Amino acid sequence: MRQDAFRLISPDGTESEMKIHRGTMGPDVIDIGALYREQGVFTYDPGFVATGSCASKITYIDGEQGVLMYRGYPVEQLAKHSSFIEVSYLLLHGSLPSADELAEFDRTIRVHTMLNEGMLNFFKGFRYDAHPMAILSAVVGSMSAYYHDTTDADNPEHRDIFAHRILAKLPTIAAAAYKLNVGQPFIYPRNDLNYCENLLHMLFAVPAEPYQIDPIAAEALDLLFILHADHEQNCSTSTVRMAGSSGANPYSAIAAGISALWGPAHGGANEAVLEMLEEIGDASQIGKFVDKAKDRNDPFRLMGFGHRVYKNFDPRATIIREMAHKVLGQLGRADTPLLNLALELEQVALKDEYFIEKNLYPNVDFYSGIIYRALGIPTSMFTVMFAIGRSVGWTAHWREMITDPNGKISRPRQLYTGSAERDYIPIDKR
Ligand code: CMC
Repeated sequence: MRQDAFRLISPDGTESEMKIHRGTMGPDVIDIGALYREQGVFTYDPGFVATGSCASKITYIDGEQGVLMYRGYPVEQLAKHSSFIEVSYLLLHGSLPSADELAEFDRTIRVHTMLNEGMLNFFKGFRYDAHPMAILSAVVGSMSAYYHDTTDADNPEHRDIFAHRILAKLPTIAAAAYKLNVGQPFIYPRNDLNYCENLLHMLFAVPAEPYQIDPIAAEALDLLFILHADHEQNCSTSTVRMAGSSGANPYSAIAAGISALWGPAHGGANEAVLEMLEEIGDASQIGKFVDKAKDRNDPFRLMGFGHRVYKNFDPRATIIREMAHKVLGQLGRADTPLLNLALELEQVALKDEYFIEKNLYPNVDFYSGIIYRALGIPTSMFTVMFAIGRSVGWTAHWREMITDPNGKISRPRQLYTGSAERDYIPIDKR
């Protein structure tokens, strides 16, 4: 047998050699593309626990070691030395920009921040208390109706403009959704501000008085966006790839990703963590909630704990934990008890046999909500903030998918467990 092949022998003795692909890092991958043709069987892997859906050059995760790299650069280094805009360039283009390239990229994002004025009418149509994630996915989906001049996936220039528009306009849409919720006038972007300053300005400025941007708040947001920027084939990114694989226009694919992110098992967890901490309320109740999380008959889970890939500490959680302390220390908000409660809960869970045995560690969402809360961002906006950071990852993956010469429409197979063939029974005979 070839060294780069995997031999598979079926119960009736039919042998197949499946090619092994070796990545730059990480486990080898068995190519099962010929399996059905040669053996007449499909593979079965609900939730894609052991299935690679594509080859990608963007992000690498080693879940056992707690490693996360964008384009080969450890996230710790990027968090320390880079900015969200530079990381966005890196994810989209594959390499760090020169000073001129970065300046031009930054300028391009700044000049695309305004929405087509007609789009503002959408916001008037939503109920004042609509969830901002519902607004975000609807308005991003509608971008294809406003920017259909750049939806040709085969045109590299269109792909670039699409990427710039998504990155630049998502904060504007997010802030408009927030302003609708709080009944304040929409605030236009200011292109003299950097990405995160501008977002804070659009969220919190009001026409009646000047608004001072807090540099710590802008720094914290920038860090959170760097950490959220990409996470290889997670649920929302896979959704973007899948929706885009049919050739659907890219704005629709991103809208699909936003919808997938909303769920509490994914990006919705940051919102759920805060709700959980508020429900726990006091350190004396931690034991009760940890017991609930361990009870197999109780659907309750400790939100912000566990991860499909990380079976060690989530490296993003380690970085965010430090930032949570800095933000709370320097902004002096009254939410320190919530952070203390989170820290106590973390300690109890980390020492608990159940969590140790199942390798359940705090994930990125455990701390991000606490920072957002300290910045004055309401709970319903937490997942929207995640979406802003992740939008560049979605866009990078969509670009990689659409330009992949081996690309195919995503179309999984199934194990059918429904009824065998049966004859139709007329209604009067049933
Ligand atoms: N609390 C209590 N038990 C848990 C938890 C938790 N947070 N997470 C997993 N488990 C248990 C689970 O009950 C199962 O037990 P058993 O083996 O006895 O059936 C075992 O651990 C494995 O869990 P799983 O659900 O099979 O693992 P998964 O890889 O399918 O799920 C997860 C990963 C993130 C959905 C899950 O850990 C979870 O629901 N966590 C809480 C929600 C959360 O924090 N999500 C954010 C993820 S990170 C950011 C992002 O991706 O967006």
